[in-house]
Amino acid sequence: MCPTPSENRIEKDKNLTWHQASINREDITRQRGHKSAILWFTGLSGSGKSTLANAVNSKLFKNGISSYVLDGDNIRHGLCKDLGFSDEDRAENIRRIGEVAKLFLDSGVIILTAFVSPFRSDRDRARKLVKTEDFIEIHCAADLQQCEARDPKGLYAKARAGEIKEFTGISSPYEEPISPEIKVETGIQKLDDCVEGVIQKLIELHVIPEGFDQK
Ligand code: ADX
Repeated sequence: MCPTPSENRIEKDKNLTWHQASINREDITRQRGHKSAILWFTGLSGSGKSTLANAVNSKLFKNGISSYVLDGDNIRHGLCKDLGFSDEDRAENIRRIGEVAKLFLDSGVIILTAFVSPFRSDRDRARKLVKTEDFIEIHCAADLQQCEARDPKGLYAKARAGEIKEFTGISSPYEEPISPEIKVETGIQKLDDCVEGVIQKLIELHVIPEGFDQK
């Protein structure tokens, strides 16, 4: 009889061995002078996650810090192009991003992820993949009214017209973080102030050095 898929997986897992890397995260941190971390931006579509993540990334780059942005819309063109927006597909999307973010963390890079990631359980699963201090959840807290008024991609209008199913905030829920490390009022505050808030917190958490000179 053929093995079932799960029997197959267990069989395969038995034949896999974790290979230790010759250069570890501590070596990289020492050489580069900053830690790595996962900055997990979450919020409604149009709440400014990508804009803020990219603005923080630019500031880090100008100051010689290794960082990279993973953006929801972009990742869905490649790594996750097989996924839609059902609860299950979103869970798988966030599972993959959590694993990718963990790899970046290991490589010494500050990884900024900008995904709606509407479900608390999915975000918490990503958080649990790494140590407590490595995961910094950033709630882009623009509310539905503000996001819908902006509607930068015209998606809210389509969702209201019933042309997009399971749209977050309209026909699919968004579960706000209960105690994110950072909450940014992206619907009210100016972008520069939001960036400043994130950078200050990264200094406070000793991810980037005290003397970060804010070029
Ligand atoms: S997530 O829910 O799985 O985290 P993700 O961040 O990858 O979502 O993708 C969200 C982006 O896809 C939105 O910014 C929007 O541009 C687009 N999108 C298309 N359909 C939907 C939908 N049904 N719900 C939310 N976003 C959608």
